[in-house]
Amino acid sequence: MDNEVLYLNGDFLPLSQGRVPVEDRGFQLGDGIYEVIKVMNGRLVWLEDHLERLERNLAAVSLSEAASGHHLDFVLPDLVVRSQVDHGFVYVQVTRGFAPREFVFPNPPHPTVLAYARSKPAPAVSEILMGTTLHPVRDLRWARCDIKSTNLLAAVLAKEEARQAGAHEALFMAEDGVVREGGSSNVFAVLDGGLRTHPLDNRILGGITRKHVIEMALQEGYPVEERAFTLDEVMSAPAGRCEVFTASTTKDIMPVVRIGSQVVGDGKPGVVTLALLDVIRRAQAILVGLEPPPALGVRPASV
Ligand SMILES: Cc1ncc(COP(=O)(O)O)c(C=O)c1O
Repeated sequence: MDNEVLYLNGDFLPLSQGRVPVEDRGFQLGDGIYEVIKVMNGRLVWLEDHLERLERNLAAVSLSEAASGHHLDFVLPDLVVRSQVDHGFVYVQVTRGFAPREFVFPNPPHPTVLAYARSKPAPAVSEILMGTTLHPVRDLRWARCDIKSTNLLAAVLAKEEARQAGAHEALFMAEDGVVREGGSSNVFAVLDGGLRTHPLDNRILGGITRKHVIEMALQEGYPVEERAFTLDEVMSAPAGRCEVFTASTTKDIMPVVRIGSQVVGDGKPGVVTLALLDVIRRAQAILVGLEPPPALGVRPASV
C-alpha cells in the first residue's frame, strides 16, 4: 500500500500522510458526498456516469461548484497511474469542508475534495458461483437515499448486523415487505423470466451498475420492470422460477442464493443472472481493452 497516492485539495501526497482538520464538516456532520468507481486494466469503468452522479448529488446539497475546479476527469485517471492500480477502485469524497462547528452552512464554504485509488481483486469466479447471502433489516435510513451521502451510519449498522448473522450483505426492507436495496448494492429479482427492481425514487440510490444492467437486459431482450417487489413474491415463487441478484460497482452482479434463513429459487445462481453477468463482464472487458472472459453461464433458450 506504500504507493497509494492521495489527491487532496489540489495536491498529490502519500495517502498515509493525508490530513483533514478535526472541524471538517465531513468528519463532524457527515456533510459530504462520495463516489466509488471501478478500475479494470488500469482504466476507470463508466467514469462519466459517476462524475455526472457526483455533480447531481453535490447540487442536491447546495455544493454545486465544489468539485468543478478540480478536473476530476483528469485527476482520477492520473491517480490510477500514480498508484499503479490495475484492478480495484477509486474513492472520491467532497465535503463542505472546514468551518467552526455549526449546523448551518458556512458562507462561503471551503470544500474538501479528496480521492485515492486502491487495488482490490475482482470477486473470483468460484465466489460468484457460490452465490451471495442477504440478511433482511428494517430500512431505518433517512428519506433521501438517492443522495450518495457520507452519512452512512445506518448502512454501517445494517451491514455489521448482516455480517454477525453470517450473511454477506444487508437487505433494506420497507415496513410493508417491499425490498428496497442492499446495504451497498441495488437488488433485482427475476420473476417469470423478467427483471424487477425498485423504481428510482428517494428510497434507493440510483446505482450506476443498476442503470447498465437495465440497459443491457433490455438489449438482450429481457423484459424489465422498475416496479418494487416484496420478499414474499420472491420466496413464494416456485423453485427455478425466481432468481435474485445484487448490482454494485465493486461486485458487479452477484447471484443471491439465500435471504435470511430461506433459500432463493433452487439455491444456485440463476441462469438469467449468469447470462446478464456474462454480458456485463464482456462489455466491461471490451471497454477497458481486455479479452472478454470465458462465459460463466448459458443464455437461456427462451426469454
Ligand atoms: C445504498 C446503495 N445502493 C446501491 C449501490 C450501488 O451503486 P453503484 O452501482 O453505483 O455502485 C450502492 C453503492 O455503494 C449503495 O451504497
